[in-house]
Amino acid sequence: MRESVHKVQREAESQLASILSAEDLEAFRLYFLGKKGRLAGLMEDLKACPPQEKRDFGREVNELKQFLETSYESKKEASGLNPVQADSLFDDSLPGIAPLAGKIHPITGTITEISSIFERLGFEIVEGPEIETEFHNFTALNIPLDHPSRDSFDTFYTASGHLLRSQTSTVQIRVMQNRKPPLRIIAPGRVYRPDTVDASHSFMFHQIEGLMVDERTTFSDLKGVLNLFLRELFGSQVKTRFRPHFFPFTEPSVEVDIRWGKGWLEILGAGCVDPAVFEAVGYDVKRVQGFAFGLGVERIAMLRHGIQDIRLFYENDLRFLRQF
Ligand code: DAH
Repeated sequence: MRESVHKVQREAESQLASILSAEDLEAFRLYFLGKKGRLAGLMEDLKACPPQEKRDFGREVNELKQFLETSYESKKEASGLNPVQADSLFDDSLPGIAPLAGKIHPITGTITEISSIFERLGFEIVEGPEIETEFHNFTALNIPLDHPSRDSFDTFYTASGHLLRSQTSTVQIRVMQNRKPPLRIIAPGRVYRPDTVDASHSFMFHQIEGLMVDERTTFSDLKGVLNLFLRELFGSQVKTRFRPHFFPFTEPSVEVDIRWGKGWLEILGAGCVDPAVFEAVGYDVKRVQGFAFGLGVERIAMLRHGIQDIRLFYENDLRFLRQF
């Protein structure tokens, strides 16, 4: 009889050591302290026990009962299941952990700023694919196969004859193929060139293309819109200069400069849409007129932030990026 009390005690001790979860603890309680548990069994034995042994046996069962109950209670507290215990570990005087906040990349910021100026002028922002056909990158833009300007635009071709676009002017073509005038769009995005990387060149950079087409859209509309844009971007004091130039897809064409220190700085290319481009997209050249422009985003971001090396934009160096 007494042997069985000791046995239950030893069993309980070994089980207590391996309690790891609330489930373990509940299993312990049921097995030893439950209605049909080991302790209840010993109580039954006690009833049936001969009178001369009852006193000693009763005392031992009672001691076991106390052991089981206190062990259960102290395990329950120590296991951290008690919410009061868990809360006491929280020290509300400790400084918090500040979340890492991201920042807008200076290229994205410049695109957003320029886009918002044109949006206020009624231009819509559209995007086109970076992998293009020769038709959209060259032919429709009045750049025939043997044209010398293809050299500086010939980028990376795929086996299927597609290429990484070298200018966002491709989006002009895509929009005109799919829609009728009046149109006022700008198209920001990446372009690719066969350029050797240095402080001012990259094989990949960003451009924003603009296009306005209506029944009567003249060179003076172009001047009005671009002057307004440059004043918004660089301040109302800015001086602009429209310098004759050549682009295959515009006629007449200009490069637009702003006064910078003692000199002039080229900011963008522009012109009136060449009738050959309208023909390529199936517009009636007698009934539409338009102007287009294209600018380099990196160039403008470098000017505005005083950045000397274009490569800084692409290196993901946080010491650089955190400044914006
Ligand atoms: N596509 C030209 C380039 O990449 C930029 C450009 C110039 C776009 C004149 C135009 C434009 O739409 O009219 O150098």
